[in-house]
Amino acid sequence: MTDSITIALSKGRILKETLPLLAEAGIEPVDDIDRSRKLVFPTSDPNVRLLIIRATDVPTYVQYGGADLGVTGKDVLMEHGGAGLYEPLDLNIARCKLMTAGPVGVKAPQGRVRVATKFVNLARQYYASQGRQADIIKLYGAMELAPILNLADEIVDIVDTGNTLKANGLEPRELITHISTRLVANRASMKMKHRGLHPIIEQLGAAVDRRR
Ligand code: ADP
Ligand code: PRP
Ligand code: MG
Repeated sequence: MTDSITIALSKGRILKETLPLLAEAGIEPVDDIDRSRKLVFPTSDPNVRLLIIRATDVPTYVQYGGADLGVTGKDVLMEHGGAGLYEPLDLNIARCKLMTAGPVGVKAPQGRVRVATKFVNLARQYYASQGRQADIIKLYGAMELAPILNLADEIVDIVDTGNTLKANGLEPRELITHISTRLVANRASMKMKHRGLHPIIEQLGAAVDRRR
């Protein structure tokens, strides 16, 4: 019997770069994802279907076995905590950095620091590791506004070109970690569906290597 496999993909910026890798592993959606309101897509491989969901929901679907494999950012995985997940591959796409940032020319305060971020767990861990007292303020986007409006002294956010920081009068302060997109797998699926998953992981790995 052939394993039926569900792969959860992040919609947004990662999707465009994920689809060519999947195509090289012989998996192509049969419908035009961009034009459809569907959330589940059959593929050229009758045993494989794709879910198109929010990046932050991917670890949860894979953790609970709603999907066998998932594709999402390392930032999202670290914030989630990674329980119940294997991380067999670095897909080496959507590379960026997780950084602290604050107003240009201003130093971080010596004592307690007010930090706005959507990565509350990551931020808490980071400031604790630095031995710094931090009050973390949860936001869901546009973190760059928080220091401008004096909600926070600094932010923890994704930085790529630095253009977003610059456009809002901020500059990077400290590098927390480098980020890229990862393939994750449900732990039980890795055992129970090994025969189905193994070739997909192998072929995705080969596609990533061809791009290096
Ligand atoms: P979201 O709606 O969660 O912001 P995105 O599609 O913007 O979703 O981001 C998905 C993932 O892409 C992030 O979790 C991160 O790993 C990566 N990413 C986010 N912003 C950038 C960027 N400016 N450059 C490169 N990679 C990024
Ligand atoms: C991401 C991230 C930063 C920006 C960094 O936002 O949250 O704001 O990219 O990229 P840069 O250093 O090249 O400017 P995104 O464009 O994903 O918008 P979002 O707030 O909708 O997530
Ligand atoms: Mg984004």
